[in-house]
Amino acid sequence: MSRHKVIETSRLCLRPLEFSDFDRIVEFMGQRAVTDFLLYFTYPIVPEQVREWLKNILEAKPEHCAYWAIVEKSKGELIGIISLTMDPYNHKTEMGYWLDKDFWGQGYTPEAAWRAIEYVFEDLKLHRIELTHMVANTRSQRVAQKLGFQLEGCWREGHFKNGSYKDVKIYGMLAVDYSRARKIREKENQQPANLA
Ligand SMILES: CC(C)(COP(=O)(O)OP(=O)(O)OC[C@H]1O[C@@H](n2cnc3c(N)ncnc32)[C@H](O)[C@@H]1OP(=O)(O)O)[C@@H](O)C(=O)NCCC(=O)NCCS
Repeated sequence: MSRHKVIETSRLCLRPLEFSDFDRIVEFMGQRAVTDFLLYFTYPIVPEQVREWLKNILEAKPEHCAYWAIVEKSKGELIGIISLTMDPYNHKTEMGYWLDKDFWGQGYTPEAAWRAIEYVFEDLKLHRIELTHMVANTRSQRVAQKLGFQLEGCWREGHFKNGSYKDVKIYGMLAVDYSRARKIREKENQQPANLA
């Protein structure tokens, strides 16, 4: 598998992360609201931890993960990150996403994530995508619902965050679920501008 491709949507460009993104990543992940529901980063963010994390990502083989910068095309600004962590033995991947707080609530994540989902099933030909979020993260829950993920269960106290164990909702999307969701979108012409 070669380097993951650049993906365009109407408002966004998803391009592989680069080391030059470091300062901007530290800036937006420095927001408490962004780290509140992330597993590996805690407020206040430690730039050295971000540097190490970014270095590992950039050195990783494409068959192990994909990390795209979500770039808002009109201003060329990095507004978030979308990730896939591959499980090649089981033909599946886990999706993650996080966005600068200033850009929340404008449909950017579903817009980016739908294209990443298309890439997983159409280009990579994988069988399944997984997604998890802490129960209190209702924004992420809404994104999962809008994308057509199926709720599969809950890990009781599955994540340790900010000093306590949190329940975690787990979702899956199979290739057949994707085909169905895609047909519904096409049939009902239900691709609002923010998903196009
Ligand atoms: C979760 C996250 C990626 C959502 O991205 P986004 O681009 O803002 O997503 P959307 O624009 O589709 O908004 C999500 C939903 O949140 C809803 N929402 C807005 N304010 C809300 C609030 N105060 N409480 C709960 N939901 C709210 C919106 O109404 C929207 O749903 P709708 O389209 O049905 O109206 C973003 O909030 C984020 O980066 N959070 C921090 C990191 C994170 O939690 N990542 C996911 C880890 S699993």
